Amino acid sequence: MKNISITLLTIICILVFNTGYAQFIPGQVWKDVTGNPVNAHGGGILYHHNTYYWYGEIKKGPTWRVPGSTWENYRVNAGGVSCYSSKDLQHWAFESVALSPDKADSTNDLYIDKVIERPKVIFNRKTGKFVMWLHIDSKDYSYARSGVAVSDRPEGPFKYVGSVRPNGNMARDMTIFQDDNGKAYHFYSSEENSTMHICELTDDYLAHSTNDKRILINLSREAPAVCKYNNRYYLFTSGCTGWSPNAASYAVADNILGDWKQYDNPCRGIDSDSTFHAQSAYVIPVQGKKNEFIFMADKWNKTDLEASRYVWLPLVFNSAGKPEIIWKNEWQIGLEK
Ligand code: GAL
Repeated sequence: MKNISITLLTIICILVFNTGYAQFIPGQVWKDVTGNPVNAHGGGILYHHNTYYWYGEIKKGPTWRVPGSTWENYRVNAGGVSCYSSKDLQHWAFESVALSPDKADSTNDLYIDKVIERPKVIFNRKTGKFVMWLHIDSKDYSYARSGVAVSDRPEGPFKYVGSVRPNGNMARDMTIFQDDNGKAYHFYSSEENSTMHICELTDDYLAHSTNDKRILINLSREAPAVCKYNNRYYLFTSGCTGWSPNAASYAVADNILGDWKQYDNPCRGIDSDSTFHAQSAYVIPVQGKKNEFIFMADKWNKTDLEASRYVWLPLVFNSAGKPEIIWKNEWQIGLEK
């Protein structure tokens, strides 16, 4: 009798609590399906053949401050780029080190002494290639370039092609946005991080066109993350305070290379003035759910970068079309409002 009651209670609990939706607890240690903390910082998401792929910076080992730096330049050895896969955005399986760092050649862009940050991957339907763009820098951040790598498979291994200063411009924090018509755009903090640029990539996504637009001029914004809602483009950014959090802002445009209008902080709720102690990385469109987005951010731990965590929150548009990122201790896709 006791056993039957326990079984019944278990079934009731499963029915009541398991809604089948992914569940997020922002800021908590996020373990992959084998129980290891997900190591994919400053990341981005690719959706391909019914699977989400999460690419991010591998931050492993001791954190130290670069000697002689006048700012809080904390770093770990560049660990390359990890790739995880998931069907539901909650349960992630480690796939691979999609782009490996170089341990031998100090002149190589991917040498462990360098900076490898904010990887973003898109799929090119014309060439059948997966293309990764990322921020490549020297440890004092004076190199300020964008690197590109390609692969035939989403999990890599990606082959590094090289790095550029797009149209001769400095390039640090970045993201890639792929539009519905297949055109792809590189958003990058430029001009000593004072001004953001948006540059249309060539059709193969491997190079920059000369369509390079300066936006948010002298507003000193970084950590760009972009989405499209109701045919308008939304760009979320942070201020420039290194690993320390600050207030986010967003900008809107009707035409991606047109005029961008800057607005104030889209975050709501406790600690919204520090983006909930985090910094934007990417906006994930939830597949199969029209106009559902997830704001993906990094809660950096600057003196122990490996212990940095993730803050994923629902990004919703209110009836006036204004984006809002609302703090939740815990939430589920589909039940966020
Ligand atoms: C942040 C940037 C990070 C990383 C860090 C280094 O401002 O968003 O990606 O570059 O500075 O201090």
